[in-house]
Order: sequence, then structure tokens, then C-alpha cells
Amino acid sequence: MIISVIGCGYLGAVHAASMASLGHDVIGIDVDARRVEKLARGEAPFFEPGLDELLTATIATGRLRFSHDMADIAAAQVHFLAVGTPQSESGAADLRYVDAAVAAAIPYLGPGTLLVGKSTVPVGTADRLAALVAPTGAALAWNPEFLREGHAIQDTLSPDRIVYGVADGDGTTVGILDAVYADALARGVSRLVTDLRTAELVKVAANAFLATKISFINAMAEIAEKVDADVVALADAIGRDDRIGRRFLNAGVGFGGGCLPKDIRGFIARSEEVGAGEATAFLREVDRINLRRRDRIVELLAEELGELQGARIAVLGIAFKPESDDVRDSPAIDVIGRLHAAGADVVATDPRAIEAARRAHPELVVEYAATAREAMSDAGAVVLLTEWTEFRELDPVEERAVVRTPLMIDGRNVLDRERWIAAGWRVRALGRGSGAASR
Ligand code: UDX
Repeated sequence: MIISVIGCGYLGAVHAASMASLGHDVIGIDVDARRVEKLARGEAPFFEPGLDELLTATIATGRLRFSHDMADIAAAQVHFLAVGTPQSESGAADLRYVDAAVAAAIPYLGPGTLLVGKSTVPVGTADRLAALVAPTGAALAWNPEFLREGHAIQDTLSPDRIVYGVADGDGTTVGILDAVYADALARGVSRLVTDLRTAELVKVAANAFLATKISFINAMAEIAEKVDADVVALADAIGRDDRIGRRFLNAGVGFGGGCLPKDIRGFIARSEEVGAGEATAFLREVDRINLRRRDRIVELLAEELGELQGARIAVLGIAFKPESDDVRDSPAIDVIGRLHAAGADVVATDPRAIEAARRAHPELVVEYAATAREAMSDAGAVVLLTEWTEFRELDPVEERAVVRTPLMIDGRNVLDRERWIAAGWRVRALGRGSGAASR
């Protein structure tokens, strides 16, 4: 099948390469000529494990090409729309890229072709776009994407489920999408067919649920801190209940990235627009709990050091999560800014995200170090904010020798506390009481 993917950011680049790896003929379109050039050379414009290799391999087969000329989609039967929907100032999703892409694609759509939305959009968008597309004779479907950064290829090729939102009784569209996803369907991946609005809602509801789960455990962490209880043991215990499940119950500095924060804010805004604001009012609290964890890191340091003015603080981790160089809404960026505002000298390191942080946050006053060892040299405290394996595996005995003060704030609850304490460190973590056990 000949497929176009319009918008080659995180979602689109991965989708294009994955579809080509399944044997489809794919043209990826992006308005950013530099991004197109990079992709055409087999280089992803961001770090995603395995993606450069997949791009190179599929480009070599001749089944994957990139272009910034929308006219190149003309030969495709299925067009995936994968442009970004960033947060606007009001919190609502900004649909300007979606609207521009659809307007640019319309001249190349015709009877028998299918426009498939993958971008995360406010419910009701697909109905509006379907009306715009209808005069061309093309059909419109919504097929939300659930990929996690760091696992994007696997999540695209072997998702937990595939959702098709289609117009009432549109069996033809279902048939076309079944052909696109034949490989996954043959392997037993479940596929759900819904109306357009439900498919749009599935995506935001899933992200709202995940964000709520994380903020729930972080709220428990706040309580645990007050009463000297242990949120990790609590998560292990409640997570044993199959109805709850242990995944996404990792308490720490909270969620960031290009999806969860913006999607819950967009969902709140859209719910208010459709007269159901009360239904998602709790998501404001989810957002607040999440942001409070960032304050708490700074508070913990102030509690321990007394004075942050002039303190040299090493920050381990800048990306919003490991195996990613994405710093969008990263808790670490926020914490670094707050520490600087409190007068601290911050030295930060990350295996992948330093360049992205420099580019996206030129305003940040921070020294970047190439390694954890360099960042920790002479530090008065160390804060772990992204749980990269290389930080989890640091040797507390060796690191003890380089810091000025062996104080570790474990912002992700991933270090073996006993081991660090045995090596002479004082360890504080989120949701693990006053730290009495670590004295
Ligand atoms: C998320 C959704 O998982 C994915 O389905 C959707 O398509 C896009 O948004 P992603 O943003 O890549 O994916 O990251 P995810 O793995 O969900 O983590 C989001 C944030 O939550 C990260 O900052 C992570 O550190 C944090 N997190 C996750 C926690 O703080 N605790 C947890 O238990 C899990």
C-alpha cells in the first residue's frame, strides 16, 4: 500500500519508518526542510533507540522517502496526519498545524483515498475535518497513537491495541486500515472500531488516566513524608492488587514530556468548552500535585543544606525520562531554574539531553558536565531527576570520594538506599519520610 505520513516529528518519523518496515511504500512529509534532509540521510532529529537504524534500513529498501513538497503525497492511498498539537497559552491544544496540513493536503485527496488522523486533538476536531475533506470524496478516520518515547518503534509495531474511529458504518475505511495494520492484526493485536469522537477521547482519556495514576502515588508520597511512612512499600503493596497494578505507580519528581502535561490541560480546556468542565476539574489537581513535587525537591535541599545561596548542586538527569533526549516540560528543567533562583550553582548532566536543553532553554543558568563524575565533583549535594541506568548504577563508594558533601536526593526512588547509606551518604527521597532511616 502507498502511504503518506504528514508531519515527521516524534510520532510521524517513527510511524513512517515503521510502516515502511512492514513493506508499505511510504512518503514522509514535513514543512521543515532541515528535518527532511536529516531524515533522508537516515538520521532521526531526536534520540529514539533503534530509530536511526530502522530509518537507514528502510530507506535502503527504497520504500521510505522524505519530502517537504505536499504534492508528493499524490500517489498515496492512505495519508496519516501526525503533526504536533502544542499547548496554547490558554491550555487548549493549538490546532494551527493540523489545520494547515489538512488544507495543504486537500488538493491531493480524492475518492478512494483516506485521511487518518493520529495527532492528539480536542474531541470534535475529526468531525470538523471530515466536513472539510468530504467534497474531495476522500474518507476520514481517527487512529490515535499510544507510543511511549524510548519504546516508540515497539509500541508502533506491537501496540496494546489499535483503535479506528470511523464515520458510521464505514466498512470500507475499516478494510483499508486492516490492510495497513495486517501484520499486527495477524499477530493477535486487538483492534477496536469506534466513532470518530470516541477515538479522539480514547487518547486523551488514556493519558489523563496515566497522569492521574502518577499523581495519585505522588499525593500518597506527600502524606508519607508527613507521617514518616514509605511510599515505595505502599506502591508495592497496593500494586499487588490486580485491579490497581504496580505500573505507573513510581513516585518521584513526577511526569513531564510532550504529552501528559499538555494533554491533561487540553482535556480540561475542551471539557469546559463542551459544558463538562466539572468532569475533568480533578485533572487540575493532578497537574498541581505533579508540579508540587518539583517544589518539594528544592524544599528538601533547603531543609538539608539550610542555605541554597552559593551551594554547588549536581543534577543528574535533564530529559523528562530515560532513553530520551526530550526536555519538553521536563521536571529537571524546572528544578534547575528554581535552584538557580534560590541562589544555588547548578551543574547538570545527562547522557543525551544536554544539547536539547541548551537549544530549548538558553535562559537556563547552569553549567553542563559531560559525565556524572564531573557534575558531582566538589558538589554540596546531588539530585537524581532522570533514572538513566548509568545513574542507577553509580558506585556510592567511588562517588563519595569526589563530592564535598555526601548528600543524595533521589528524585526517582531508584537508588539502593541501604548501599548508599552504608557508603557514608545521607539519602533523602520523595515520599520516604524524614530520612531518619538514613542517618
Ligand atoms: C506518554 C504515554 O505513556 C503514551 O502512551 C502516549 O502516547 C504519550 O505520552 P511518554 O510521554 O513517552 O508517553 O512517557 P511515559 O513513559 O508515559 O512517562 C511520562 C512521564 O511520567 C515521564 O516524565 C516519567 O518519568 C513519568 N512517570 C512515569 C512517573 O513519574 N512515574 C511512573 O510511574 C511512570
